[in-house]
Amino acid sequence: MDNRAIGVFDSGLGGLTAVKQLMEVLPGEDIVYFGDTGRVPYGTRSKDTIIKYVMQDIAFLKTFNIKMIVVACGTASTVALPVVRDKFDICMTGVVDEAAVCAIEATKNNKIGVIATSATIKSDAFKKKIQTLEPNANVFSQACPLFVPLVENGHFDSEVAMLVAKEYLEPLKEAGVDTLVLGCTHYPLLRGVIQKIMGYDVTLIDVGEAASKHVKRYLEENDMLSPKKEGGKCSYFVSDSVDNFAHLGSLFLERQIGEMVNKIDIEKY
Ligand code: DGL
Repeated sequence: MDNRAIGVFDSGLGGLTAVKQLMEVLPGEDIVYFGDTGRVPYGTRSKDTIIKYVMQDIAFLKTFNIKMIVVACGTASTVALPVVRDKFDICMTGVVDEAAVCAIEATKNNKIGVIATSATIKSDAFKKKIQTLEPNANVFSQACPLFVPLVENGHFDSEVAMLVAKEYLEPLKEAGVDTLVLGCTHYPLLRGVIQKIMGYDVTLIDVGEAASKHVKRYLEENDMLSPKKEGGKCSYFVSDSVDNFAHLGSLFLERQIGEMVNKIDIEKY
């Protein structure tokens, strides 16, 4: 048993999709969340900048009594995690590996789409992982750089989101993918729009959901589950306005989080 919290971070709101799943599968766990809202997006930045930001995010979370870190950001998982993992003495898990397994399990025609930020697509991390596990898989990748700003501005289901999504997703639809990895944790917030365009027979893989199953297994196997079975508490930290995050986060999590959100200066870490 281990009653320390789980640290979770993302560039902004997106990691809440992983938090929501963690709350569902591990309702007794305490969570400390950091959303780097002052520096979002990460996905259009250089590798060096993303690594610098991720090092600071981890250093901040490590000031809390935490037992592991979930890198609830596709960009940080693919671009920075392989580089920074060894620099910290704490277990860290990203969102790639388990999602790749889920995609292979889900596909029937071996045509898998991956949508993510420009940095993640450039890294080819999802494609490499999927094809290591299943060499016959055809992977079709598409960067969707406008999705993150749409989500951060609350366009979860608007006309403009629909228009942008059509533009990005049409080639994947034409390629006939039957499974689509939402390789950025912001994208499940656009799930309705994405599913509408791709069609209801296409399986969408939520990388945060996949990662939270992995976290549960890891904690169970290492006897690190919280002694509490429910009533886990979540505190939230951001690097910019509390109000926008609290408003959109409450909408998405379907619970009021305003009281639990605090602003920090991430440059200090
Ligand atoms: N949620 C992040 C991801 O999964 C968003 C990246 C960004 O900030 O551009 O990649």
